[in-house]
Amino acid sequence: MTELNIDHWWQPFTNVRAFRNNPRMFTRAEGCFLYDDKGRDVLDITAGLWCVGLGHARAEIADAIREQSMTLDYAPPFQFGNPTTFQFAEKLAQHAPDELSRIFFTNSGSESVDSAIKIAFNYQIARGKPAKTRMISRQRGYHGINVGGTSLQGLPNNRKGFPVLDTVDFLDDTLDLDQSAFSRGLPEVGADKAEQLKTIIDERGADNICAVIVEPVVGAGGMVPPPAGYLHRIREICDEADILLIFDEVVTGFGRTGSPFAAQTFGVIPDIMTTAKAINGGTIPMGGVFIRPEIQQAIFDAAPTTMPELMHGNTYSGSPIAAAAGLAAFKIFEREGLLTRASGPIGAYWESALHSLRDIDHIIDIRNCGLLGAVTFKSNAEKYPAGAGVAVHNKCFENGLLARGVGDGMVMSPPLTISESEIDLFIERYRKSIIDVFG
Ligand SMILES: Cc1ncc(COP(=O)(O)O)c(C=O)c1O
Repeated sequence: MTELNIDHWWQPFTNVRAFRNNPRMFTRAEGCFLYDDKGRDVLDITAGLWCVGLGHARAEIADAIREQSMTLDYAPPFQFGNPTTFQFAEKLAQHAPDELSRIFFTNSGSESVDSAIKIAFNYQIARGKPAKTRMISRQRGYHGINVGGTSLQGLPNNRKGFPVLDTVDFLDDTLDLDQSAFSRGLPEVGADKAEQLKTIIDERGADNICAVIVEPVVGAGGMVPPPAGYLHRIREICDEADILLIFDEVVTGFGRTGSPFAAQTFGVIPDIMTTAKAINGGTIPMGGVFIRPEIQQAIFDAAPTTMPELMHGNTYSGSPIAAAAGLAAFKIFEREGLLTRASGPIGAYWESALHSLRDIDHIIDIRNCGLLGAVTFKSNAEKYPAGAGVAVHNKCFENGLLARGVGDGMVMSPPLTISESEIDLFIERYRKSIIDVFG
C-alpha cells in the first residue's frame, strides 16, 4: 500500500493520527469475511457497522443495482415517482408492524432520526399543539450525527464540542450490572426504570413534550437489551400523556432481534420507527422512517392542497437504485428466512457460545439478544486509557476478527447468515484475543 496516498480522506469517527501510523485496510469481502490488504481473512462479527445483514457480496443485489442503473438510474423524487421505489415501500410495509404502513425514505440512520423528529414536530403543530416541542431520549442512546440526532445523544462524548439543542431530557440508562450481569436475553429486573418518564413529564408538562425516542435495544452505546416489560411501560406512559413514541431501529431493524423489527419481537408498537443500514443489505446508502397513517393524515389535513404536505426531503430520498437493491435484498431475506432466523436455533447457539466465555476472569458481563452480543471487561483506565474493549478490539483485528470496542466493552452483531462453525471460529479467535491482552 506504499503508493496509496492516505492524506486526503478525513475518515469519520476515526483517530486519523493513529490510523496514519498503522493503516488498516480492507480490500475485499465475501460472506462473513473481510480480507485485508495483506490477504488475511478477518471474520466480520459486526456485519460491517450493523449493516451487512445478508453477508457480504450478494450477487443478486449487485445484479439488481446494475440493472436498475441501466434502466432508470435516477429520477427526481420531488413531485415525481418511480415504480421501483413504490414497490420497495410496499414490500417494507408487508414486513413492518401493520400500524406503521407509511414510509419516508432517507439516505442514512442520521437522516431517518432527524426526519422522524421533524415529522413528529410537524404532527404536533398540525393537530394544534405547537407547544409540544421538547424531546425525551435516554442515556447511552445513539441517534446519529445530524444536529437533531446529536441533541438526542445519550453518549456524552458525541455531544461534547457541539452546541446542540437543549430541549431534551434523558431517561436513565437501564444497564445494571449489580442486578442483571450475565442475563441471557432480557434482564428480568429494571422495568421500573420506566417510571422516571412520569417524573420528567410531571416536571416539564405533557403539553410541552413532543416525543420520546429510544433504541429498543441500545446498540452503539454497548448493546443493552431492555429489561422485560420496560418498553411496554414506556408505551403506556406515552399514551397516557399524549406523547409520541419513536423507536430508533437503525440497528435492530431487519431481523437482528429475531423478528423483522424489534417492535414485533417485544410486542410494543411505536408511532414512528427509524431504520437504515441493513434495509438493502448495506449496499447503497438508504434509510426509511415508518409512520402511522393517522400521523400522515393529520399532516395532510392541516396542509394547503396546493403545497407539499411535508416541506422536507433529500435529493436521494427513495433513490430507485437503492430501492432496487432493497427489493433484491428482500428476496434473499424472504427466501433464506433471515428476518426471523435469529429467533431460531442459530440464536440459541449464539447465546450459548457467547456465555461460554463466562469463565474468563476479566469479563464482568455478557449480554445477548437475537443475533446481538456484548461483553464488558473489568475497567483499568491506567493500562487501557481508551478502554479495555478497545484494547481487545485491536488484538482481535491482529487475530483475524472484527468486533467493535466501546469503552470497556465490546459489541457484536454478526451477519444474519452466520453458521455454527463460523460462530465457533469467532469464539476461538475472541478467546485468544482476550487472553493475549489480559494474560
Ligand atoms: C440507533 C442508531 N441510530 C442512528 C444511527 C445513525 O445512522 P447512520 O450512521 O447511517 O447515519 C445509528 C448508527 O449507528 C444507530 O445505531
